[in-house]
Amino acid sequence: MSTEAIARELFTALTGREPDGVWSAPGRVNLIGEHTDYNEGFVLPFAIPHRTVAAVGIREDDRVRVTSTFAEEPVEVALTELGELFPTPTGAAPAVPEWAAYPLGVAWAMQEAGATGVGADVAIASDVPVGAGLSSSAAIEGATASALNDLWAAGLDRTALARIGRRAENEAVGAPTGIMDQMATMIGGVDTAIFLDCRSLEAQQVPLAVAEAGLAILVIDTRVKHAHSTGGYRERRDACERGAAIMGASSLRDVSVDDLPRAAELMDDVTFRRVRHVVTENQRVLDTVAVLRADGPRAIGDLLVASHTSMRDDFEISVAELDTAVEAALSAGALGARMTGGGFGGAAIALIEADATEAVSAAVNDAFAAAEFEAPLLFTVTPAAGARRDA
Ligand code: GLA
Repeated sequence: MSTEAIARELFTALTGREPDGVWSAPGRVNLIGEHTDYNEGFVLPFAIPHRTVAAVGIREDDRVRVTSTFAEEPVEVALTELGELFPTPTGAAPAVPEWAAYPLGVAWAMQEAGATGVGADVAIASDVPVGAGLSSSAAIEGATASALNDLWAAGLDRTALARIGRRAENEAVGAPTGIMDQMATMIGGVDTAIFLDCRSLEAQQVPLAVAEAGLAILVIDTRVKHAHSTGGYRERRDACERGAAIMGASSLRDVSVDDLPRAAELMDDVTFRRVRHVVTENQRVLDTVAVLRADGPRAIGDLLVASHTSMRDDFEISVAELDTAVEAALSAGALGARMTGGGFGGAAIALIEADATEAVSAAVNDAFAAAEFEAPLLFTVTPAAGARRDA
């Protein structure tokens, strides 16, 4: 059954009627530019074909009721009560089950942005792997925000909806993330990566043309689950802020590769390595965009590998499964490979010859079996459309 059919069926089981509309938003893969977004830097993600679908119907009262395939019980709240539930205090768990904090957080953030309307029933189904670093959460936010924007005739543009998604994630769910995932899900497009300046939110479409070059992008989901509302992600953010402050900069965006020798003198080794990752990663995004435009995707492999090395050694957000995935793919002939997303688990990507998909997949499976890791989930992706109304 399609994800849309599942969402429709859930909606009808909840309400006994058909939805007024169906909206969907994709997950994303980040080609390069990790932990740069909250440092006001550069990222290069693309939307993937996996999508989250929200089947939505207007209600006559002011209540929002959400249900999902992730949950046993629907959660229902009055629109006027959302301001009592959110923002979630820093470090605390949301006042509703975590999955429900995404769509309800969006309804809250929409109201905070001045949009209002009647209540709604929302049924959510998704084929974006959860906890895999592929932005299943931004996909829920994007689908819900797009639906409410239309049903409430709020007229908010895609960037505004991305900001609303990020606010839900930061303040309702309590994950201190940047805006990359929400922008990717809102403005992704077929065959293009999004070159995003996370300071200005100015975005350019960069053609990827992977298939034309005889290549494919293989996703290797290690099935090691991560959560960004706790632990390492927040620590990395803090280290970046500390590093920027020591350099007298408002963010690491304003620190360049040429400043690194001075940074090495001014800060402790750990903070310096966190800074070096972000500063060199920003440069790698710029280099990747230039190389893609001049020479095409075949030429970006070394930049992907350098990015992984930097995340593994300097930012220390990789795990053994991700390193094994990257090494096995490279040994089997991948042009480049790196972990993607926030790290501490999740997925890696490998840029491979399209006709080597089976051979590289087999090599990765063998390496996981030899290391006694749980078998990874392997699939290829092409850049796909961003959030939209489907019906
Ligand atoms: C997660 C966050 C993003 C970004 C990445 C790391 O996906 O949601 O905002 O910080 O990690 O690049």
